Amino acid sequence: MLAAILTQVPTDELVIADDITLRDIAPGDVRVKIAHSGVCHSDLSAMNGTIPLQPPAVLGHEGAGVVLDVGPGVTHVAPGDHVIIAFSPPCGNCNYCVNRKQPNLCMAGFLTQPQFMQGDTVVRAMTNAGTFAEETIVPAMAAIKIDNDVPLDVAALVGCGVTTGVGAALNTAKVTPGSSVVVIGAGGVGVAAIQGAAIAGASEIVAVDLHEGKLDRAKAFGATHAVLPDDLPAAMAEITGGDGFDFALECIGLPSTMRQAFDITRRGGTACVVGVGRMEETFELSAFELFFAEKILVGSYYGGADVRSDFNRFLRLYKAGRLDLEGMISRRIKIDEVNDAMACMGDADIIRQVIDF
Ligand SMILES: NC(=O)c1ccc[n+]([C@@H]2O[C@H](COP(=O)([O-])OP(=O)(O)OC[C@H]3O[C@@H](n4cnc5c(N)ncnc54)[C@H](O)[C@@H]3O)[C@@H](O)[C@H]2O)c1
Ligand SMILES: [Zn+2]
Ligand SMILES: [Zn+2]
Repeated sequence: MLAAILTQVPTDELVIADDITLRDIAPGDVRVKIAHSGVCHSDLSAMNGTIPLQPPAVLGHEGAGVVLDVGPGVTHVAPGDHVIIAFSPPCGNCNYCVNRKQPNLCMAGFLTQPQFMQGDTVVRAMTNAGTFAEETIVPAMAAIKIDNDVPLDVAALVGCGVTTGVGAALNTAKVTPGSSVVVIGAGGVGVAAIQGAAIAGASEIVAVDLHEGKLDRAKAFGATHAVLPDDLPAAMAEITGGDGFDFALECIGLPSTMRQAFDITRRGGTACVVGVGRMEETFELSAFELFFAEKILVGSYYGGADVRSDFNRFLRLYKAGRLDLEGMISRRIKIDEVNDAMACMGDADIIRQVIDF
């Protein structure tokens, strides 16, 4: 079958292979025919080495599709069911899943067996999902059943970008009604965070991006203000009287904007880092300022979500017209155009690109 493979790091080009096969299905496995996969900035980050991934590997971690087959012991889904693939699935049994109630931090998904082969060579998959392929095999815990009437293209976005952004606002930052929010970076994740802040009832939601085009779009998703980085100080002065925002969400992955998110958060407010930077990059805090301003600095992994309930919670918001997922799809491509999609990821008119299989 067709799949887009990472063959070296760093690279600008994925190899589109037509000779990828799946290993046999095993107990606890679910084989899924991928209908659509979103293209997330994290896929690009695996190509440039920001996110560590050992090649060869099938990229893609934001997908939805139809169950083709289930291994022995799988009872929660059956062939024909529609599923979203969770890129960091909860095992349901570990301390994170049960006692700490932080199933997004469960590590079990990292330990699953590779599912792809190319001849005799084992090919890994990004986050063990590998949604840039016509079919994949995932552990049962990663196949989250959804209603068959939800379009699978919007469902795919819920697999990463939507859950990450909406979840960061609702679950991690815990945006409150009437609060002021700034979202730095208005790509797919940022637009989802803006929508999450709107659902939470924020009074002011400021989108910040380098592209005017992104700013116009951000307003359509609920941003009350949208500014270029240079205009942020003036917007902050006007909206917060200079105190800073109640909540700042960094949705880019740069040390400079992570530090900026901290700086533009008010005393006692919450700065939430959603973007993923390189492991060797750092940003500094003085040993005085963290205590003195009593700011909360928090990372958000997979939107702090419990995918078992949050995927369908977000889809109910979509069905109710409270979450615009169709509007996030800026461009549709075929798998053999994925390198072109990577090249125009940051463009002014791109929120999310979706691969149609
Ligand atoms: N925490 C998680 O679990 C998680 C999950 C998915 C993605 N991510 C990360 O979230 C980040 C965003 O992902 P995405 O898919 O939305 O990316 P994207 O490329 O679609 O969006 C990034 C946006 O930031 C803007 N931008 C870039 N530099 C800027 C700057 N200096 N100032 C203002 N705006 C700037 C770009 O114009 C673009 O609109 C990435 O780092 C990605 O790896 C994290
Ligand atoms: Zn992603
Ligand atoms: Zn677990």
